[in-house]
Amino acid sequence: MESRTNILLLGSNLRRAEQVRSKLASSCNVRSEDFHAVLSAHRLGAPLAIVDLAEDVDAAIAAMEELARSGGPVKVIAMAATKDPELILRAMRAGAREFVVLDGSDELVTVVEKLRRQIEAAAGSGHIVTVFPAKGGAGATFLATNLAGLVAESGKRVVLVDLDLQLGDVLVTLDMTSQYAISDVLQNMQRLDRELLSGSLAKHPSGIHVLSQSDRLEEADRVTAAKIGAILTFLARHYDYVVVDGVRGFDEMSIAALDVSHQVLLVLAQTVPALRNAQRCLEVFRRLRYGDDKVKVVVNRYQKNDSIDLDSVRESLGTSVTGLVSNEYKTVMAAINRGRLLHETASRSKVAQDLRQVAGAIGAVGLQKKGGSFFGKLFGKKEAAPKNVIPLPKQQNREEGVRSEQPKRAPETI
Ligand SMILES: Nc1ncnc2c1ncn2[C@@H]1O[C@H](COP(=O)(O)OP(=O)(O)OP(=O)(O)O)[C@@H](O)[C@H]1O
Ligand SMILES: [Mg+2]
Repeated sequence: MESRTNILLLGSNLRRAEQVRSKLASSCNVRSEDFHAVLSAHRLGAPLAIVDLAEDVDAAIAAMEELARSGGPVKVIAMAATKDPELILRAMRAGAREFVVLDGSDELVTVVEKLRRQIEAAAGSGHIVTVFPAKGGAGATFLATNLAGLVAESGKRVVLVDLDLQLGDVLVTLDMTSQYAISDVLQNMQRLDRELLSGSLAKHPSGIHVLSQSDRLEEADRVTAAKIGAILTFLARHYDYVVVDGVRGFDEMSIAALDVSHQVLLVLAQTVPALRNAQRCLEVFRRLRYGDDKVKVVVNRYQKNDSIDLDSVRESLGTSVTGLVSNEYKTVMAAINRGRLLHETASRSKVAQDLRQVAGAIGAVGLQKKGGSFFGKLFGKKEAAPKNVIPLPKQQNREEGVRSEQPKRAPETI
């Protein structure tokens, strides 16, 4: 196993924390925190937690119970000074997977290695992309559905998730209904395998699988923020792509979805309110320490001659623009009104080509090679960079050292 694992160590004093660090130094990054950190464990991105029972047993047990309740992907190791059978029982009941004693032996290292292997085996290769509107009506649902459609067309398994539990419009946009809701997946996550899951989800003729709550509102309160990360990573285990729509603003639920996303597409139109909101969103993303490889800006309903031109967008956001999607109201509405995707109804339209470029630029499908001439192909002439990826000469306003812990999947476009 080559990659390093982040481990959250809770409740250790300095000496014990140092001991743990030195034992695991070769394969893990150990972050030592007090028990309060358990409340934000799902944000700290650690798949493994070690809870130290040596100092304060009750607080340690409470922390383990909280980790178990939050339903996140954190596996818990209880660590104590002695192997007290009663303590072992309490720790296991509180949700610990393993119980180890911190001493001169290799026990901790062996247990951590075992759990790391399990985590690696369980981790899916799926990629989670959240389409995030800077302002209502920016075209997030339109982009999310069509990007998912292009991914499906390329032969990959894709699920489109609508996290707007109350007023989600993915099902309406695709003219579908669904018997199976997000709350059902949550309830059955333990027993759902790939077959059962894909058999249960609604399917669009394009091949997109859809998961929404909007037809089953009465159970929406089961879908809590703490479970959002768990459900998206669960879906990523079974799909190549998880495209998320219906996330807006920065409430707990949104942040849980954004945190587990590998990419966030910030969608805006060329209006002053949209630009202002986009600036604020980028600021929040920076504070959440999402890097440039994670956050991509897409201008939708793009009009070249708009008074807010591309340079103004780039300047006021201080970042590059990854994609421009043309404003073609009639073409777009014709597809939406039929519950279809643009590459099915108007594949030659400019807006459909733009969507392909965006999908290519974020690495969701192979980049379109536009206008490759016969001689060019024959002599292997180099293709031009996609036109819609607009480089900014110099990154501005970016915090030093901001980086994403998510895997880098998209080709370098900026
Ligand atoms: N590129 C485009 N060209 C023309 N019209 C578009 C384009 N993209 C979206 N629209 C139109 O804008 C409207 C809003 O789009 P959409 O529902 O996708 O936005 P949204 O960001 O999901 O909105 P909401 O905040 O309601 O969730 C749609 O009616 C659609 O027809
Ligand atoms: Mg929408």
